[in-house]
Amino acid sequence: MSTFEQDTDTLKAWDKAHVWHHMTTGQTADAGLTMFVRGEGLWLWDIDGQEYLDATAGGVWVTNVGYGRREIADAVHQQLLDLNYFAGSMASKPASAFAEKLLGKMPGMSRVYYSSSGSEANEKAFKMVRQIAHKHHGGRKHKILYRERDYHGTTLAALSASGQMERREHYGPFLPGFVEFPHCCEYRSQFGDVEDYGARAAQALEDVILREGPNTVGAVIVEPITAGGGIIPPPAGYLQAVRDICDRYDVLLILDEVVCGMGRTGAWFGYQHYGITPDIVTMAKGVASGYAAISCTVTTERVYELLKEDAGDTLGYFRDISTFGGCLASQAAALANVAIIEREGLVENSARQGERLTEGFRTLAERYPMIGDVRGKGLFQGIELVTDRASRQPVDESVPMAIVARCKAHGLLIGRTNRCVPGFNNVLNFSPALTATDQEIDTIVERLDRALHDVTPTL
Ligand SMILES: Cc1ncc(COP(=O)(O)O)c(C=O)c1O
Repeated sequence: MSTFEQDTDTLKAWDKAHVWHHMTTGQTADAGLTMFVRGEGLWLWDIDGQEYLDATAGGVWVTNVGYGRREIADAVHQQLLDLNYFAGSMASKPASAFAEKLLGKMPGMSRVYYSSSGSEANEKAFKMVRQIAHKHHGGRKHKILYRERDYHGTTLAALSASGQMERREHYGPFLPGFVEFPHCCEYRSQFGDVEDYGARAAQALEDVILREGPNTVGAVIVEPITAGGGIIPPPAGYLQAVRDICDRYDVLLILDEVVCGMGRTGAWFGYQHYGITPDIVTMAKGVASGYAAISCTVTTERVYELLKEDAGDTLGYFRDISTFGGCLASQAAALANVAIIEREGLVENSARQGERLTEGFRTLAERYPMIGDVRGKGLFQGIELVTDRASRQPVDESVPMAIVARCKAHGLLIGRTNRCVPGFNNVLNFSPALTATDQEIDTIVERLDRALHDVTPTL
């Protein structure tokens, strides 16, 4: 039975009066926002009984196994009754079992540090880099290089490491020691139409390392496939070249898998498509599919060893804590989440249905010239919209906004780049739950078709 017995109008009025919504302008909130009350698989219902097919996995790439999973709810329930909490400075059954399970999916990785959000997982990674610099390099190798168009979180260090100017605007000054390097979006190549775009884009990273001084650079952080910055998969050879450059200058490579992790791209982790092993991997959203808050900073044994206590240095170990990294139901939820992904073959389904979705979008591209580029991997796809294909001029953000609204009117939730990179808020995002069936994929394409048709005559 629901705990929220108030009538619909009262609940809506309270929301309008009191809730400060994420990423939402005052104007939009004043108009009243949709209140979702129930979900099953990819489907959602709002408080007025309206049904939606959710192609966003909860708005921000979270619900990888879909809504309404009793198995995860039961695992959380049981763990809350057995023991809800003890700080991560002590051992627990679920933390131990999930770490073993997770590392089984990540050859070459060795240690799991728990916290509760993607930003926090990245903060931990940055603190590790800084402490390694102090302990082993006299404080010099402290700089962290991040890429234009990537996003690593909302806290100030994570935002200092984010290459999205519209996300950063008004929140500076930022932390020192974070340095940007150029993006790798082949559709927007800085070098024109070239065969070896991946190698050239990676060379831009090496140029920045050399400019800054390799003995000052401790780490590079990248998203395997840029998410909020426009769904940008790495060009051929790029990540391998980045790994080589990091090795050449003794720089740690951090892969932010907060979005791409847990099967989203058709592999357990995005980097695994590209044959590299990172030094640190961060993850959050799909780890427990939103049934509980959990994030992980996963490292190699080498990184762990570098931050172990040394005789004579009482401050030499990683002195960090995350209170809610000790919520044991989160790890229990994560364990049940992975069991579902394994049993139902959702990583493979993501790869297969991703191809079906791409095919559907390519068919739409034959009829809608504003579709400039279709890109992504697995059930993580983007459509870049342009005014015409020859100039590749991005459409104004009002166009994707209108398409998202028309999709919603047709019962389909999709995402879009939202005030990220100036001039490039022109990408539609699609990331349905990894359980998507043929029919659900086709419904996404059909409803998008209707929305594009609605909007096209007004262009
Ligand atoms: C790639 C990436 N990293 C980090 C984060 C931050 O995660 P959180 O919002 O859980 O702090 C996000 C959030 O969208 C993200 O997309």
